[in-house]
Amino acid sequence: MYQEINLDKIDINAEPPIEEPDRQYYYMAKCRKWVRKFERKNGRLPTAFIQTFGCQMNARDSEKLMGILENIGFEQSDSEEADFVLYNTCTVRENANNKVWGRLGYLNVYKKRHPHMKIALCGCMMQEPEVLEKLQKSYPFVNLVFGTHNIYKFAELLEISLTQQRMVIDIWKDTDKIVEDLPVERKYNFKSGVNIMFGCNNFCSYCIVPYVRGRERSRKPEDILLEIERLAADGVVEVMLLGQNVNSYGKTLNEPITFAELLKRIEKIEGIKRIRFMTSHPKDLSEELIEVMRNSKKICRHLHLPLQSGSSRILKEMNRQYDKEQYLSLVKKIREAVPGIALTTDIIVGFPGETEEDFLETMDVVKQVEYESAFTFIYSKRTGTPAAAKENQVPENAVKDRFQRLLKEVQRIAAQKADAYTGKTEPVLVEEVNEQDETLVTGRLSSNFIVHLPGTDEMIGKLVNVKLKECRGFYFYGEAEE
Ligand code: 5AD
Ligand code: SF4
Repeated sequence: MYQEINLDKIDINAEPPIEEPDRQYYYMAKCRKWVRKFERKNGRLPTAFIQTFGCQMNARDSEKLMGILENIGFEQSDSEEADFVLYNTCTVRENANNKVWGRLGYLNVYKKRHPHMKIALCGCMMQEPEVLEKLQKSYPFVNLVFGTHNIYKFAELLEISLTQQRMVIDIWKDTDKIVEDLPVERKYNFKSGVNIMFGCNNFCSYCIVPYVRGRERSRKPEDILLEIERLAADGVVEVMLLGQNVNSYGKTLNEPITFAELLKRIEKIEGIKRIRFMTSHPKDLSEELIEVMRNSKKICRHLHLPLQSGSSRILKEMNRQYDKEQYLSLVKKIREAVPGIALTTDIIVGFPGETEEDFLETMDVVKQVEYESAFTFIYSKRTGTPAAAKENQVPENAVKDRFQRLLKEVQRIAAQKADAYTGKTEPVLVEEVNEQDETLVTGRLSSNFIVHLPGTDEMIGKLVNVKLKECRGFYFYGEAEE
């Protein structure tokens, strides 16, 4: 676990250590020398900005990257007009890539006026060979490119790119390595993401994640528990356990352990008041987990359970390993065991070969389950995945029509589910002062619904009982009770 390490005591004239994380601290010390030189020359510290695209895994990775930058001596900037800009990219759908290409064009214009600035790219999109080719050919102004498997090496790569002009590229195909004990700069001081595993072995036929995030590997339970204990000691009250498929956590460890068992151990950590996790794959969700959720005082009453499609035929084509009936019976079991639990989901519309009948099966599941909220996506063809080779792509107008109908239904049901809370008093974890109205604070229910209430920044990080007075579709206005 990361402890304050005095970088100034590290001998940067010696050979770099072989062992991690010592090697990275050595490079952080070297980078700090560069920072001091910058400061002498410019009369200020260099600034750094990280833009995160994509999921909570990326958000957590960015906190680690910013932790390293701050440790070195960079000042965090809140805009891209900085000395060092890093895009942590996503590639789950094509439009995620398009956003990055667009922003890079803009950054190039800025760099022309500030030639000393350094631009770096990392994350899932960099793991695609076509992306790298395009970067090398058409984006020579980028200084550093690395992928998902070697972010722990950031200090080392940064040191090379700060002292060289050429584009530094380091992308690994895969790794079985997990490096612990590097610094982290948390965005919130009362809540934190905690990686429990990396990668994915499921190979859903539409999904690029297993190719860009590599094989599934779990962190050791003792490392996770120690991290959470330290977070709790540092004032964190809510943890979000992160993994592509948390339900298969621990299966490949030398001493296997189940996700449910891990949760039981986390529950015992004093100071932690709320535990969340994502993402759950329906095929691996065990009876043991349902039982642990039922008995827990800390696990939030919320489960994100991606459906993807309600058609058993399409689910088979997607390689999801469950059918409509199995999904529905799992939902029934969970709703019975954990009354009041909020269920949310991910749904893809327009998977190759999806017919109107298939789509109606999805609508049927949506109506039966009554999700508290759902993320709906239009299928995006990802090069290299089995689904991309399918010829029967659904015509765009049919996809758009289905997407709109689904969205309408999902929103109608979500509003109805939210409205059922109106008038109740529920615990809310206050997260921040409201951006639009400073007399309000914003927080979340255990079920993840958002609540605005009159309050001050002193309430941030506290659990307060709130009377939910008015429901506005997806969020509430409430008032703290004494
Ligand atoms: N097209 C559209 N949506 C996708 N997802 C993953 N891959 C694709 C794709 N190729 C969605 C799934 C997943 C969520 C994170 O992104 O619904 O659960
Ligand atoms: Fe992608 Fe499926 Fe793995 Fe989720 S479980 S990351 S959808 S392959």
